[in-house]
Amino acid sequence: MSDDLTQRSALPADLVTLLDDWPRAGWSDVPGFEGLSAFWLDRHLGFRDLLGGLQRDAEQAAAHKIDPNRWHQRLLRGGEQLVQGLIGHHQIEDHSYFPAMQRLEPRLARGFDLLDADHHALDALLDGFVTAANDALQAPDIREAALVFHARLAPFERALIRHLEDEEDLVIPVILKHQMG
Ligand SMILES: [Fe+2]
Ligand SMILES: [Fe+2]
Repeated sequence: MSDDLTQRSALPADLVTLLDDWPRAGWSDVPGFEGLSAFWLDRHLGFRDLLGGLQRDAEQAAAHKIDPNRWHQRLLRGGEQLVQGLIGHHQIEDHSYFPAMQRLEPRLARGFDLLDADHHALDALLDGFVTAANDALQAPDIREAALVFHARLAPFERALIRHLEDEEDLVIPVILKHQMG
């Protein structure tokens, strides 16, 4: 299976062996879950919610069910939160958390490299997202703008959701095993 974010449908099997002992369904029952693990999953949920909100707003705008000015305000605010939030989140992961985790689980080094590469791929998609949002804010026809923006969100959403899920599968078992945080 490819390591490439836009090509894979899960992490390669050799990177998720810790899931056998720390399966996703049991994470919240592990002592210490209510620390770094819960915080991490909560941050990811926040990004999913922001993106879902932007998608729903675009659907509403395309159906003329939201005032255009209100749509623009929500797009500006939500887009900024998403972009700034993800940039900050990726920085702390790449520079602080991933190196610490790699020291605890050296055999997962390739996994942390893969997630780091994901962040670079997402940076390019974030640039595309900003361009798409700016185009939507300047387009004269609201319905057309909303439909085009919604369509341009799709590849970004696919990549972001894939990254968040795969990262959780790699990182949360490491946090729980080593009681990090
Ligand atoms: Fe990440
Ligand atoms: Fe993350």
